[in-house]
Amino acid sequence: MVNCASFNISLVELKMSWNPDEFGFDTRAVHAGQTPDPGNGAVVTPIVLSSTFVHSEPGVHKGYDYSRCGNPTRASYESCVANLEGARFGFANASGTMGVTTIMHLLESGDHVVAGDDMYAGMYRLFEQVFKKNGICFDYVDMSDSERLEAAMRPETRLVWMETPTNPLMKMVDIRAVADISHAHGALLAVDNTFMSPVFQQPLALGADLVMHSTTKYINGHSDVIGGVIITDDEELAERLEFMANAVGGSQSIFDSYLCLRSLKTLGIRMRAHESNAKALAKHLENHSGVERVFYPGLKSHPQHDLAQKQMSGMGGMISIFLKGKNGGMASMEEVIRMVQAVKVFTLAESLGGVESLVSHPSTMTHLSMAKDVQLSLGITENLIRLSVGIENVEDIIHDIDQALGSIGG
Ligand SMILES: Cc1ncc(COP(=O)(O)O)c(C=O)c1O
Repeated sequence: MVNCASFNISLVELKMSWNPDEFGFDTRAVHAGQTPDPGNGAVVTPIVLSSTFVHSEPGVHKGYDYSRCGNPTRASYESCVANLEGARFGFANASGTMGVTTIMHLLESGDHVVAGDDMYAGMYRLFEQVFKKNGICFDYVDMSDSERLEAAMRPETRLVWMETPTNPLMKMVDIRAVADISHAHGALLAVDNTFMSPVFQQPLALGADLVMHSTTKYINGHSDVIGGVIITDDEELAERLEFMANAVGGSQSIFDSYLCLRSLKTLGIRMRAHESNAKALAKHLENHSGVERVFYPGLKSHPQHDLAQKQMSGMGGMISIFLKGKNGGMASMEEVIRMVQAVKVFTLAESLGGVESLVSHPSTMTHLSMAKDVQLSLGITENLIRLSVGIENVEDIIHDIDQALGSIGG
């Protein structure tokens, strides 16, 4: 028989007061936002699937009313992920795209947004084909060029939207510099931190107002969840986001919130494994006869390697490469197809950030929604492939890419 009376509630209460500065990242990733269940002592946060919660009288309840607005499992996860970004407020969404949609709903017709010109194409599609119709105006600039960014800012600019490193060309953008320019013009800065995760990059500490993740990627990390999260430490902004998350109705499912919470516990070790494998592969490919060019921020040959070292504490697991053809020039489409079909450890698939290695072809996959001339103006040519380096054995990863390059004579 369980003796409930002997249960030491003070230990539970002790764990409730997490001070983000007091513990290291990996410790917080395992514990923040989570307390043993005061009722039964369960160490793992339970999945509370209930869509609705009891009122003792109309309007009086224990903090939860209806799971679109708030749910204990999702709240634990939001609290943990916010903590890892050094913030107090997190809002978990049904997808990364839904997170951006929620942020964009803070804007009004006539407002102006400046966004990076090299970013996940789905954001470009969302801005151009959905929010433009709502009367919001957009300009796209190379965010690494401060003069161009300055020139694009207008009195009605409310939001600056950026990714770093960019997808797929791994261009670095100086978050601190963009935050200074955004704030000087009265605009908020939002950073898509999907590629680096809070393990390697902390945009809020560099002046950003909002961080967004497609948690589909590294945060969940096992390619079995679609999700997004928005994080801020600004109380007023958090109140507006809380309202909007509820009003727009795109909060994350409880089960998926649980999976993300569980995945956060291994985020640090996963990211370090991704990085270690990616570093070794990037170095190997730099001197490979089948590769024209490698883009990885951890390589000294990366044009913004110094900024990468200053801004990030690790270099991540994403690599982009331009393939060389048998004739010594750009690989042809036929050669590219042969290469991406020859992989065995890697899988030809959209997405990134899972434990398994993936290869994708941006111009026909992730960036297909971008017009060909826009792709080419950004440098997304047909011989560009993007590698999401997994946590498999590094020798297998390198050997796999070698043999696939061999299929085009590289
Ligand atoms: C950098 C980045 N941001 C945002 C998204 C969109 O996220 P989701 O697919 O979860 O809506 C993606 C998706 O690939 C992405 O790569």
